[in-house]
Amino acid sequence: MGSGYLWVKALHIVFVTSWFAGLFYLPRIFVNLAMTDPGEARDRLLLMAGKLYRFMNPLMVLALGLGLWLWLGYGVGAGQGWMHAKLALVVLLLGYHHACARLLRKFREDRNARSHVWYRWFNEVPVLILLAVVVLVVVRPF
Ligand code: HEM
Repeated sequence: MGSGYLWVKALHIVFVTSWFAGLFYLPRIFVNLAMTDPGEARDRLLLMAGKLYRFMNPLMVLALGLGLWLWLGYGVGAGQGWMHAKLALVVLLLGYHHACARLLRKFREDRNARSHVWYRWFNEVPVLILLAVVVLVVVRPF
């Protein structure tokens, strides 16, 4: 398939990894926000969370765009079960990314009702999705 496909796949992996850095760290900031009372420390955490979320959006778009290029452009995985399962998990991941935006808005409006324990469990979700997606795309169990 030539080197073009390999460049696209390499960039896909780079932007997926970068997006996940945000998906792992933003909920960790939420854990700290849920334990911090109003004041300077909380304002700094909110600032960090806002900047990180703004940074995650273009990384997500590039990761998904390059993935679509591999799938629709080069036809890799077309009609295969592992690709369909992977896409279903990607939709879940998009939902998680969106949920982070809503939770960030709630923290900004001082309307958070969830405990830091809840956010610790919430933080584990992208780990499980990443595990499943990587197994699907590398091992291709079906
Ligand atoms: C619209 C969403 C996505 C599409 C259409 C897509 C599609 C693809 C395709 C077609 C490949 C090439 C497979 C190959 O050449 O063997 C690939 C590679 C890969 N994708 Fe995605 N992907 C998407 C999102 C993601 C996400 C969210 C993750 C991580 C959770 C991910 C992780 C990977 C990895 C690790 C590889 C490299 C696999 C290898 O080198 O064998 N992708 N993707």
